[in-house]
Amino acid sequence: MASKAQIQTVKADFLDPSLYEDTGLSGVPRLSRGAVIGALSRAFDLAEGRKPGHAQRVAYIGVYLASDLGLEAGRIEEVFFASLLHDIGMAVMDPVAVPMVKPSRHWGSNVRRSKPADVTSRSGWVEVIDAIARHCETGAEVARRMGFAEAVARAVLGHHDCWDGSGRPGATPGPATPLVSRIVALADRFETLLDGDAPPLVLRRSGPDLLRDMAGQELDPELAERMAAIASRDDFWLGLYDHDLGAGLMALNYGGVLARDELFDLLGVLADVIDVRNGRSEGSGRRVADLARKVALHCDMTERRADLLKVATLLHDIGTLGVPARYLRKPDILSVDEMSAVQMHPVYARDILGEIPGLGAAAWWVGCHHERVDGKGYPGMLEGSEVPAEAQIIGMCETFDALTNDRPYRRALPRSEAFEIMRGLAGNRFDPYLLARFESVAGPFDA
Ligand SMILES: [Fe+2]
Ligand SMILES: [Fe+2]
Ligand SMILES: [Fe+2]
Repeated sequence: MASKAQIQTVKADFLDPSLYEDTGLSGVPRLSRGAVIGALSRAFDLAEGRKPGHAQRVAYIGVYLASDLGLEAGRIEEVFFASLLHDIGMAVMDPVAVPMVKPSRHWGSNVRRSKPADVTSRSGWVEVIDAIARHCETGAEVARRMGFAEAVARAVLGHHDCWDGSGRPGATPGPATPLVSRIVALADRFETLLDGDAPPLVLRRSGPDLLRDMAGQELDPELAERMAAIASRDDFWLGLYDHDLGAGLMALNYGGVLARDELFDLLGVLADVIDVRNGRSEGSGRRVADLARKVALHCDMTERRADLLKVATLLHDIGTLGVPARYLRKPDILSVDEMSAVQMHPVYARDILGEIPGLGAAAWWVGCHHERVDGKGYPGMLEGSEVPAEAQIIGMCETFDALTNDRPYRRALPRSEAFEIMRGLAGNRFDPYLLARFESVAGPFDA
């Protein structure tokens, strides 16, 4: 444990009230459901192994088509959310184990026609079919848990379905598939075909024909024709390649502004998804976030700072969607390459959260949650008070939760033992003063 003199010095560094006057910090920002999902869809792109912005571009195409068809506002909103969420099911799977994640054509077309060249065995082919079905079903379930309408979940479920009824086992042919689902399936396939290295002007020329090629087999022929007409207009392409596409979609504010607790609930579902990907028991992320909020208040931080820390903590490992799940769940020591991949996750999370208005501070804390006060952390090797107190609180709460719960490689430790281990991290991983404050909130009390 740190001496009293040390504690006072460190306290001055970390909890100098002038640092926490919150003049520039407005707490949990007022955000719409559309802005949150729009920004976080970047993490779903990572999980699918796609170029950044794939889900946003699918939403742009889907909303454009739905508006052109004159759909009512509620249907357009369903297209928007289903487009952003369509591949969230990939977040609980491992893309590297699924060889068709980056096809030259989309999964639906590959599945319908023939086995792609990179799937060489029958068992590999069965695995691919199974992966398609699973990520669709899992994604639909996540959408329901987030509170979205059944039409959104249904469109997520059917985003690989083909007009002729092929694709996912259980797909319904033709008009039996709801219109919202058919629009999302078209938008996803079209974006996937554009997602090559061809220059925009070439795509501008070939886009309409690509759509007509798929009409009647993969795509609803009427929708394909309508989209082909849209793809003949310059304004569609200018919008698609606009650098501010993501911000523009977020500014539509679909879904209405979330109240504080609604935001916590929505992010809580994402925290559950992250738990599953990381091989942790579901609910771990929510527990860690609640504890972090309590510790923040015990460190004399304001309610609004503590709330913002809860938001950051719920999302702190969202960057792991960009790391192969088998590395995250590996019970053994990681190789250098595997470790380098894992160490990118705070950077991904910081970049994604940094895009959300009002979450700049939270993005910084999340980006630092694996830093250490001895300068041996990652990604920035920050030292001492350079490591934000909030980032350390996230790290402490996560470490404690990991020690006191079962993991694939060991049983849960009693709380007293967990604290013994955590005290050994004072002065190297964590600041001793903050650790002492943490201990006085979190225990140790063995049941
Ligand atoms: Fe998919
Ligand atoms: Fe997709
Ligand atoms: Fe982490």
